[in-house]
Amino acid sequence: MSQPTDSETRRSTPTGLRALTPEARRAAVGRAAGLSEEETGLLDGGEALPLAIADGMIENVVGRFQLPLGVATNFVVNGEPRLIPMAVEEPSVVAAASYMAKLAAADGGFQASSDPPVMRAQIQILGLSDPHGARHRLLAAKGDLMARADACDPVLVGLGGGARDIEVRLFEETPVGPMAVLHLLVDVRDAMGANTVNTMAEKLAPEVERIAGGRVRLRILSNLADRRLARARVEIAPERFTTDGFDGAEVVLGIVEACALALVDPYRAATHNKGIMNGIDPLVAATGNDWRAIEAGAHAFAARDGRYTSLTRWEIGAEGRLVGTIELPMALGLVGGATKTHPTARVALKLLAVASAQELAQVAACVGLAQNLAALRALASEGIQRGHMTLHARNIAITAGAEGAEIERVARDLIAGGEITTAAARALLAKV
Ligand code: MEV
Repeated sequence: MSQPTDSETRRSTPTGLRALTPEARRAAVGRAAGLSEEETGLLDGGEALPLAIADGMIENVVGRFQLPLGVATNFVVNGEPRLIPMAVEEPSVVAAASYMAKLAAADGGFQASSDPPVMRAQIQILGLSDPHGARHRLLAAKGDLMARADACDPVLVGLGGGARDIEVRLFEETPVGPMAVLHLLVDVRDAMGANTVNTMAEKLAPEVERIAGGRVRLRILSNLADRRLARARVEIAPERFTTDGFDGAEVVLGIVEACALALVDPYRAATHNKGIMNGIDPLVAATGNDWRAIEAGAHAFAARDGRYTSLTRWEIGAEGRLVGTIELPMALGLVGGATKTHPTARVALKLLAVASAQELAQVAACVGLAQNLAALRALASEGIQRGHMTLHARNIAITAGAEGAEIERVARDLIAGGEITTAAARALLAKV
């Protein structure tokens, strides 16, 4: 059978996945993404990560830990259809993202952009008698220090990356006296960049000590990757939110009001942003990227003005359209680490068909925005529990001991009965 070309791949979106078995879904997704039979097989992570590779990835390996891998559909980002691989344990995440992407697609999908992939390394300098003088000397040596950083990684420079700038921050009063921190900004191209900038920071440290006349302690990247932001925007007509029980314009107003609380109240902002990360983390995990780094960057960015707040904004635009925007750091790579060693991560990246780390960052921002919209839409209308518990019913059935065909049957009866609890599932199971 002939494989689709790259452009066909991006344009074909499998439909009706929900009704299929996991095997049939995998085949449909593989066909749509132009994956080979072997690559399609690797989406079944159960067999994909050989123990020998796992043993090389971390220490004291005793086995492999599996998560369900789903594919969110209907995403259109800058006019391109995208399939979104998501590794996650929480029911309703994949369905919710796909549902919101469908509403968005009817109005043109998501528009996204991202900064060049610039990471920041910090070099901490202590024991300074003249911190201001040290700052000026370091800034005067910028050209030489950047050239030294570039010399650490000629391959990166050959790919168009390398040192971009140097900044020096002063903290005149700290528990251990005045301190300067040199920031080395490096374009890391398609890497996440931690190893690249950490190596450069360690190499530069002796010269920085000499110029500053102090002593270097920390040499490490900052996960607040605020020079590597990704942005997404979506605009949806209010009637798209109209359902049997709810008027679309009222739902749109509810979404905007819900967001307003997250903007002013950290207690709500934490939950609101958790909902955003419900979309982003599964994509980050599926592509073998470092989700702790993404989490750290997102939350630090959310608190950048001194008060923790929402990472998204929802407004009412022209003709009552709901306008949503998100902006956050997105240090994702296509090369290095588990993105290359984990066979399923490699295929997940192929499924996404992104050409650069910047494009991957844009897709991640769109998924975060879609996931946030799903939560706010539900909260602003029927509430979160109905959909959530319906999708959770199968989990409850399994917890109660259902196996094979019993799972679907017990889940169906639980939903029909309206009491989705383990006790109810046990009672139903006993009858089955
Ligand atoms: C649950 O995992 C996420 C939500 O709590 C997010 C939100 O409240 O916005 C539904």
